[in-house]
Amino acid sequence: MTSANDALPRLRELAEEAATHAYAPYSHFSVGAALLWSDGAILTGCNVENISYGLTSCAERNAVFRRISEQGPGAQIVAIAVTNPAGEMCSPCGACRQVMHEFAASDAVITYRIPGGWATRPFAELLPDAFILRRGGK
Ligand code: THU
Repeated sequence: MTSANDALPRLRELAEEAATHAYAPYSHFSVGAALLWSDGAILTGCNVENISYGLTSCAERNAVFRRISEQGPGAQIVAIAVTNPAGEMCSPCGACRQVMHEFAASDAVITYRIPGGWATRPFAELLPDAFILRRGGK
């Protein structure tokens, strides 16, 4: 078992905690995310909605942007947990998959809420043939 897999129970707890901070007066669907980075740091995020609905920002992206804003780029995401307090299906939206992919290790793992439990799988399975630009920064 890898250390990333060992971290999943703690990441689930932290994601649940982060979801309690959500601002979701429109959807009433709170989301929490916790990301473990290759340097050992864990950053959490929650969704922040807006009355102009399209400006809503998801939990996963907020966690990524918080990390980069506070500590800069350089580390990779090695494990991800995403959840909601209602225990409903909570796999990351397409936009968040692409944003997390930008910083994810090739063997990163993700665990997310499904009814009655958690799904855990390689993150790469969530975004096959992800967009990349060979002359880009990654
Ligand atoms: N949401 C997230 O925070 N992450 C996702 O990956 C999917 C959706 C939020 C956005 C919105 O505030 C609420 O869940 C309902 O769509």
